[in-house]
Amino acid sequence: MSKNQPLVIGHRGAASIAPENTWASFRTAIEQGADGIELDIHLSADGKLIVIHDDTVDRTTDGSGEVWKMTAEELRKLDAGAWFDERFRGERLPLLEEVFALVPPGLLINIEIKGSYGGKLEEELSRMLDAEGRSHRVVVSSFDHKILQRLKRLRPATAIGLLYSANPVTHLGLTTGMQGEVTSFHPHHRLIGESDITELRRAGYAVYPYTPNREEDWRRLVRAGASGIITDRPGELRELLRRE
Ligand code: G3P
Ligand code: CA
Repeated sequence: MSKNQPLVIGHRGAASIAPENTWASFRTAIEQGADGIELDIHLSADGKLIVIHDDTVDRTTDGSGEVWKMTAEELRKLDAGAWFDERFRGERLPLLEEVFALVPPGLLINIEIKGSYGGKLEEELSRMLDAEGRSHRVVVSSFDHKILQRLKRLRPATAIGLLYSANPVTHLGLTTGMQGEVTSFHPHHRLIGESDITELRRAGYAVYPYTPNREEDWRRLVRAGASGIITDRPGELRELLRRE
């Protein structure tokens, strides 16, 4: 493999072929050759970091209700696999600490924070990252840059990734002023030009666009020198990179 190839980062694991944000999905991404995984976190009623995208459990489990109103024990009783395919019945919503324990050391874990919870989530995450040590490469991202700012203040060693649903280059002057504290930019893949990627890379940032799932989009990002590609189809992207 060429040194300049982007990292393959499985979006919510391998969300095209397994129920998102479950161990089955993360395991599939890793088995298919991903360099890392992206996942989403919320905080349970009893202060545990739980891996789920939405702020309710309705779409991706057999339960209903808001995540923050349920304890980790209640959340863990839900089935998080059968909605996707009966083959995955029995999958549970993972706790973040379980993901740390199960993902092989050295792989990248991109944790996306989906809500602030009055600062409690940042405190718990900071504590957990300290406990995790340096087993994995961890990047914490969010569309809410104020949350990231708070986390960075709490734990300066944290690698921070700014998520953008707009072009980060044209918006650089309008951001939270965090550029000096940021490790990576995570733009929507359709909103970032090849020259923007070059500019950000030259400025010393990693660039991890989300979530292209088609070969032509992957090729464009490889050509542009993206540091990593967040995709629902990590196995297919790995195959494409192997052929390059
Ligand atoms: O982290 C990139 C991407 O996951 C952001 O959007 O909605 O899939 O969490 P979403
Ligand atoms: Ca996400």
